[in-house]
Amino acid sequence: MPAISFQSVSKTYAATRQQRSSGASGLRALDNVSFEIEEGEFFGLLGPNGAGKTSLISILAGLSRPTAGSISVRGFDVQTHYAQARRQLGIVPQELVFDPFFNVRETLRIQSGYFGIAHNDAWIDELLESLGLADKATANMRQLSGGMKRRVLVAQALVHKPPVIVLDEPTAGVDVELRQALWQFVARLNKQGSTVLLTTHYLEEAEALCNRIAMLKKGRLIALDRTSELLSASASNVLRFKTDASLPWSLAQHARITGRIVQLPAKDAREVEQVLASLREAGVAIEDVEMRKADLEDVFIDLMAGEQTPLEVAR
Ligand SMILES: Nc1ncnc2c1ncn2[C@@H]1O[C@H](COP(=O)(O)OP(=O)(O)OP(=O)(O)O)[C@@H](O)[C@H]1O
Ligand SMILES: [Mg+2]
Repeated sequence: MPAISFQSVSKTYAATRQQRSSGASGLRALDNVSFEIEEGEFFGLLGPNGAGKTSLISILAGLSRPTAGSISVRGFDVQTHYAQARRQLGIVPQELVFDPFFNVRETLRIQSGYFGIAHNDAWIDELLESLGLADKATANMRQLSGGMKRRVLVAQALVHKPPVIVLDEPTAGVDVELRQALWQFVARLNKQGSTVLLTTHYLEEAEALCNRIAMLKKGRLIALDRTSELLSASASNVLRFKTDASLPWSLAQHARITGRIVQLPAKDAREVEQVLASLREAGVAIEDVEMRKADLEDVFIDLMAGEQTPLEVAR
């Protein structure tokens, strides 16, 4: 039985009255999304802002209803068997929301109470220790910095030792040290058998951690494969150079641009030659040219730039 099964999930948000009066219909945030995550996987769900990742997770968490389709967690349908499905899940939400009147330990005790767990202090202590919160146990939630609050969100998601852990951008606004500690901790839980579903815009993290990756674009599933397959199926090399000029659109749409640094996919020597020829034609002067192996960010940019037909995942 899969840990999570998404079956033809669609979600259309109704237009507001104002939007309707200017002729707009609803917004289709998810369009017939189907895939499964197996027990024990470390699974990455990637996509640009607005692709539908949080919408999918909200339906999974039972916070929002799908317009069509269904989701089950270890066999429990999230709508018809909400309580059982929810108990399987530890969800770290993207938004930081808290009751400011409680301290960290109280927050975690209350969350344990929601799941009917009375004596949870040993596990709460372990969570506080693993997430670098031990000295903040009696601090009020409103006294914590943003990154500290995010740590508490992670601890809160894990109080009932859920077999399936869902992290919606857990490292946004988190410093390097905690990112490393967090990944170590989550990787350990994964090794011990937990299934992990992760969304992140840090593609290096996804590449390093996830055994399989799904990509959403405008609500549609456009890629789903083992991370190693995604990496080897794309252009395997990248041409990197510096320039002060702007690129012609034909190249710019595939490029990864950071200030003066431009990185472009080029499979082989012939493609390198083509890129260089287009640059010459456009009068773009370049310097510090070098080649490197493609990483997940290159694959992502390549996939998002293209016109994909949505994947029909065989089930
Ligand atoms: N409650 C809502 N009402 C109306 N539209 C919504 C609502 N929530 C999300 N949307 C819209 O649905 C689309 C998908 O949003 P969603 O939050 O799922 O994206 P995301 O992939 O999580 O993006 P990000 O990477 O920025 O977190 C966006 O166009 C967003 O504006
Ligand atoms: Mg989101």
